[in-house]
Amino acid sequence: MKRIGIFGGTFDPFHNQHLNIANTAYHKLSLDEVWILPTKQNPLKDSVSASDQQRVDMINLVIKNYSWIKLNDYELTSKQPTYTINTINYFIENYPNHKFFFIIGSDNLYTLNKWQGIEQLINLVKIIVVNRPHYRKTLELMSKYKCQNLVVRPSSDISSAKIRNGEIINQIDIKINDYINNNLIYSYERLKANLDNNRTEHCINVGKMAAKLAIHYNEDANKALIAGTYHDLCKQWSKNKMTKYLTKYNKEILQEPFPVWHGYVAALYLKNHYQYHDDLVLHAIAKHTTGATEMKPLELIVLLADKISIERNHYYVEELRKLAFQDLTVAFKYYLEILKKHLLEQKKPLNNKFLTIYEAWSNKN
Ligand SMILES: [Fe+2]
Ligand SMILES: [Fe+2]
Repeated sequence: MKRIGIFGGTFDPFHNQHLNIANTAYHKLSLDEVWILPTKQNPLKDSVSASDQQRVDMINLVIKNYSWIKLNDYELTSKQPTYTINTINYFIENYPNHKFFFIIGSDNLYTLNKWQGIEQLINLVKIIVVNRPHYRKTLELMSKYKCQNLVVRPSSDISSAKIRNGEIINQIDIKINDYINNNLIYSYERLKANLDNNRTEHCINVGKMAAKLAIHYNEDANKALIAGTYHDLCKQWSKNKMTKYLTKYNKEILQEPFPVWHGYVAALYLKNHYQYHDDLVLHAIAKHTTGATEMKPLELIVLLADKISIERNHYYVEELRKLAFQDLTVAFKYYLEILKKHLLEQKKPLNNKFLTIYEAWSNKN
């Protein structure tokens, strides 16, 4: 008879402690396999999170290294919302030669009385309770539901919410982190953690516009989407926070005028914190405020998308939008003219960097 541990959860995303629990259960309970059972997302939960397919993909990226961990998509693929008792009944019917252990966190111990068919469930499977901070496994509850204790060390409680909002990055497998970065999963949570609603919306719009331009010019639309979405990620950081960050990662930028810092800070933050390493995307983000004397099409696309995103309404936007879809160079030159006119009107000095860029582009056609 095969001994199977069933480990359910939303796995949004699958993180190191999930793997640790599976590993501990496998060894301490002498299991033959652990089945990771992603559950349906609560439809009432209004937070934007990874799709079912993305959660499955992320789990698969890690478990392929472990022959004894399997993914079971029974609950995800079933039409109706599934109670645990239905799932267990299905498993018992379809795998008569398996003995099942159902792994839960000690927080669930306190709500088991509300579970559909709990009396039946505890006679069909052994419930294994893993320690979670702040939820004691009382003897009374453990014996009431005939549970077995499983001590997992370390017992760290990793917050999935903090992974989603980008605060914690080092508690997920690097392959999952790459997947999150490349598919912009949790980008809404990450923007919201750094920006107010308007700026978040602006970033989302710039991402969309950049992708549209990239498709138009046969450039990499996914890279454009990533760069556009995150171009202003750090725009609302305080000057003090930006100063500290630049002092640590790139002091030279501190010599530039403050309004251009945020592009560089966002690129550095993506690279050093999110561990995102595509140079083209990082450069496009870094340069999105000032531009440069030499720019690749994707860099121009992101810079222009920032100026013509759907919610922008400056008097010149319509013309710039039209030009951006006709010729990137012409559009950028037009934008530089507008900028020069503005600076002169406001009697602001034209700094050397602007003049160098302006000169360089006036000679291009
Ligand atoms: Fe910006
Ligand atoms: Fe912007």
